[in-house]
Amino acid sequence: MGIPCHVGIIMDGNGRWARRRLLPRLAGHRAGMNRMLALVEHIFSCGVKYVTVFALSTENLSRPQSELDGLFGLFREYFSSQMEALRENGVRLRVIGDRALIPQDIADLIRAGEELTAEGTKANLAIAIGYGGRQDIVSACNRAVRAGREVTEESFAAALSTGGMPALDLLIRTGGEKRISNFLLFEAAYAELVFSGKMFPDYTDGDFDAALKEYASRERRFGKI
Ligand code: IPE
Ligand code: IPE
Ligand code: MG
Repeated sequence: MGIPCHVGIIMDGNGRWARRRLLPRLAGHRAGMNRMLALVEHIFSCGVKYVTVFALSTENLSRPQSELDGLFGLFREYFSSQMEALRENGVRLRVIGDRALIPQDIADLIRAGEELTAEGTKANLAIAIGYGGRQDIVSACNRAVRAGREVTEESFAAALSTGGMPALDLLIRTGGEKRISNFLLFEAAYAELVFSGKMFPDYTDGDFDAALKEYASRERRFGKI
């Protein structure tokens, strides 16, 4: 079956990774962010064209303000420091999720990063922040209702925040839980699911290679025989 075109990563387990080391949760989020950047580079080097990572869900926004402040601080730092490297590598960035739910200065950094990398043609990185699959579906529905339009599968897919990206082929979740937790609900309809018991900061490039091998060994039938 070869290489998946679109890989999704639910980067879960940062908090537990930190707790096991008697570190503050934020240290886990920082380790996770660093691992994510390196992992994404590796995934692109395998020939994958689209990677979408789940960094913060709509529901995560109900976590204690101290944790959110720490996470927003990290986003500020990384969206300031990493954009040029993405551009140099030909990576086009898109951030999906509700911008109204995150601080305005971060939304501004995101817009600048998306503009800076807009010409990237080698690979596409989407980061889901303040994102929920249900919320994304509902807002696409509401836009269609307001426009007085019925939708088709294709027009609806195009109206989601992942519009223009291919459907998800491979979904990897770290951290041991075996659930989707409101990630790409529509897009993952026929994704192959691979779960890892490793906490995200411990998830190595080699672990991804093993997931790729697992993916290649599966028969995707899409309902056919
Ligand atoms: C995933 O790690 C990152 C976010 C959801 C922000 P968690 O913070 O959920 O880590 P655990 O699951 O508590 O270990
Ligand atoms: C999923 O992790 C969301 C992200 C990784 C951003 P959660 O930690 O929020 O998921 P649950 O609460 O275990 O379902
Ligand atoms: Mg978690």
